Amino acid sequence: MSELTELYEQIRACQKCDLAKGRTNAVPGEGPENAAIMFIGEAPGFHEDRQGRPFVGAAGQYLDELLALIGMKREQVYICNVIKCRPPQNRDPQPEELEACKAYLDRQIELIQPQVILTISRFAMARWFPGKKISDIHGKPKKFGARVILPMYHPAAALHQPSLKRVLEEDFKRVPQIIQERASLQEEAEAKHSPPQQLSMF
Ligand code: URA
Repeated sequence: MSELTELYEQIRACQKCDLAKGRTNAVPGEGPENAAIMFIGEAPGFHEDRQGRPFVGAAGQYLDELLALIGMKREQVYICNVIKCRPPQNRDPQPEELEACKAYLDRQIELIQPQVILTISRFAMARWFPGKKISDIHGKPKKFGARVILPMYHPAAALHQPSLKRVLEEDFKRVPQIIQERASLQEEAEAKHSPPQQLSMF
């Protein structure tokens, strides 16, 4: 069993907070173990809780469309959430729930080692950009060591607010260039055995 599969088993058996009591299924996340791109949403909703898979409802269908815009398929990326069990009535996660779940996401990032993380929820964004507003920083990549974090609007927010749809799609179209730039930076740094140079984009 891979370490990631073991982690999924731990998440499915987790009783660290009260969300465990109301769940049908925990939703650990899914995607290739060596995915270069990781999406981090907020928490499972109704359909995710039923199926035990992330982003399978309306927001997930839209995420598939966004990926198609840049020539990618869901099978190529890793998709997970900050919180692994559905909060009642999809309410915001509580501080103690975020705390209980934190180690699971930390471990996922450690095992998958994504090159680029797209945060697609407020709570995911807050891990790297505490106190920032999505309206100020969406679509702006920032380097954290060798990794780039790219904050994006949540697909569900864009579905509810048509003006955000265009913004999210424009941000998404820049993703291939951001991935490409990160890869060239990394290659350059490895070739020189020196710390990566700062490119204007980051
Ligand atoms: N919204 C999220 O943030 N995550 C899901 O898995 C589904 C909807």
